[in-house]
Amino acid sequence: MKLKTLLTAAALSGLTLLSASASAFSLFGSDDDTLKLGYLVKQPEEPWFQTEWSFAEKAAKDKGFEVIKMAVPDGEKTLNAIDTLAASGAKGFVICTPDPKLGPAIMAKAKSYDLKVVTVDDQFLNAKGQPMTDVPLVMMAASQIGYRQGQELIKEMQHRSWDQATTGVMAITADELDTARRRVDGAIKAIEESGFPVAQVHRVPTKTNDIPGALDAANSLLVQYPTVKQWLVVGMNDNTVLGGVRATEGQGFTAKNVIGIGINGVDAVNELAKSKATGFYGSLLPSPDVHGYKSIESLYDWVEDGVQPKKFVEVTDVVLITRDNYKAELAKKGL
Ligand code: GLA
Repeated sequence: MKLKTLLTAAALSGLTLLSASASAFSLFGSDDDTLKLGYLVKQPEEPWFQTEWSFAEKAAKDKGFEVIKMAVPDGEKTLNAIDTLAASGAKGFVICTPDPKLGPAIMAKAKSYDLKVVTVDDQFLNAKGQPMTDVPLVMMAASQIGYRQGQELIKEMQHRSWDQATTGVMAITADELDTARRRVDGAIKAIEESGFPVAQVHRVPTKTNDIPGALDAANSLLVQYPTVKQWLVVGMNDNTVLGGVRATEGQGFTAKNVIGIGINGVDAVNELAKSKATGFYGSLLPSPDVHGYKSIESLYDWVEDGVQPKKFVEVTDVVLITRDNYKAELAKKGL
């Protein structure tokens, strides 16, 4: 366990070093005439964001600019990153903020340096807690993709002919993040519309948006419902659902009596590749490639040609990947 923790820590610090050295190279090692644009993400350990980065780099190659990739896990690092970007001569950045409430502070700092901003995945909130709709945003169709998650869970439950009366829904929530709230609400809507009993749908909030946070939340829920024989696991992304599935395993559940379907797809690859099936049945794969490419491409067009980006680009494509088709589906998207 300790070794595993160490290895994970080493992998993560390696990642940070990698992006730090990439930035250092961008700051000091390149031709000053090349346009520089930042791409700041809250959780660089998620393959989702690594995929966005790599497609932002593809756009950079196609258009001839340079991407400065930065990890911004908290508010302080975010504001410092903007200082660093400005010092490097960058003209703008794409950001998935670690906290939507940082929106006004991020915009104030960006404006002070005359940097243009495009948001991706998570929308900024103003001081009143309302979405900052004037800042361009590229995001997935959260309610719709959540709804599909619910539909697929019910479909698989029916396919297995489970007794609905002894089945429970574990919905791990993160309501302070709008996209997460909309995904989970969408999933629950589909589940309830199918006729699944409302009283058997149980919500539990996670403290952090990662596997350990979701595992803790799920554990606290499982002890309250010891008579449930089969679980359907809902959460806003793969890590949340993986945490839920790990908790069910701790209580003796297996692939036979748990169906978890995540969202992100690229974060589920290791799980789906396991030699033995787990309760994590599959994941909805949206388009991190499109998010990464489009967001920075629109920033480039704005900086370079004065083309105002669309205020809202909603990405709706989604495909269910399971152990059977994940390799082919990822390959189709060049992932
Ligand atoms: C949020 C989640 C990520 C990913 C993106 C996709 O930021 O935290 O895991 O799902 O949305 O838009």
